[in-house]
Amino acid sequence: MTQHFIVIGNPIAHSKSPEIHQVFAAQAGIDISYQRQYCPDDTASFGAVVEAFFNGGGVGANVTVPFKQLAYALCESKGGLSEHARVAGAVNTLLLKSDESQKDHLQKINALYGDNTDGQGLVNHIISLGWPLAQARVAIIGAGGAARGVILPLIQAGIGQLTIANRTLNKAEVLVEELSAASDAINKHAIETCATTELTGQFDLIINATSIGLSDDTLPIADDLNCHYAYDMMYGRALPFLQHFAARGAQTSDGYGMLIGQAALSFERWTAHTIDVVKATEILKQASK
Ligand code: ATR
Repeated sequence: MTQHFIVIGNPIAHSKSPEIHQVFAAQAGIDISYQRQYCPDDTASFGAVVEAFFNGGGVGANVTVPFKQLAYALCESKGGLSEHARVAGAVNTLLLKSDESQKDHLQKINALYGDNTDGQGLVNHIISLGWPLAQARVAIIGAGGAARGVILPLIQAGIGQLTIANRTLNKAEVLVEELSAASDAINKHAIETCATTELTGQFDLIINATSIGLSDDTLPIADDLNCHYAYDMMYGRALPFLQHFAARGAQTSDGYGMLIGQAALSFERWTAHTIDVVKATEILKQASK
């Protein structure tokens, strides 16, 4: 029997999720339909799309820009949230899950549940690259939604030191306050913050979590900032951030593997099939040539 999935976004035509999930389904040996679902950018439309999809027998939905925070709010009011989604303040994976807190049998099996696999997708990709995370000195540049989603998984992966740098310093400070209030695993006193231009010294890993890769701007990088590994969460175009550190001898990666990694984790939540992400990535890279 075909299992139905969608990715909800606006715009959505560019989404690679249908191709990615079909590769996973082939690997798992199951039959799926995975469609791009356009949605007008308002709360009521998003709620209606989600409800219609699950009422119609849909198994799982991915949520992308600009709906991740709306999906969070919907799950918070109508269902449940994973710890990663709660701390990220954003949901990228929706499913139905039994809610044991409900006495009513029907509500028990129908609760909407939101997870966020973005940060774990990044961590899994970094591990698959062979980059060491245990005790690593890590800097994240950016303090928006993308940065917020990866901090708890990085801390859980055992990094030793974390600095968050942002163009607007205050946003980094607020982010740290909010994250430490949201999770006991995050100690605000153990996280440093600074303005991006003030980020200097030697790190093991620097992650670009700004949206700058989408624009023609370049990130101001201090001359005495160095790292062994540089990761840009963007993909699909030449990234000056990676070129800068590659020229200084660092190993670099764009965020394509994170895209596959977060998708694999969504697929695993929905179907209980484990994905060989390295194999799936090879197939997808071949197909896009
Ligand atoms: P996302 O959800 O992708 O993280 P966001 O919440 O809009 O998007 O956050 C964008 C991040 O990129 C922010 O950290 C932003 O810095 P500010 O907080 O100072 O706005 C950063 N960013 C975007 N454009 C930038 C630029 N031209 N230079 C430096 N940082 C930039």
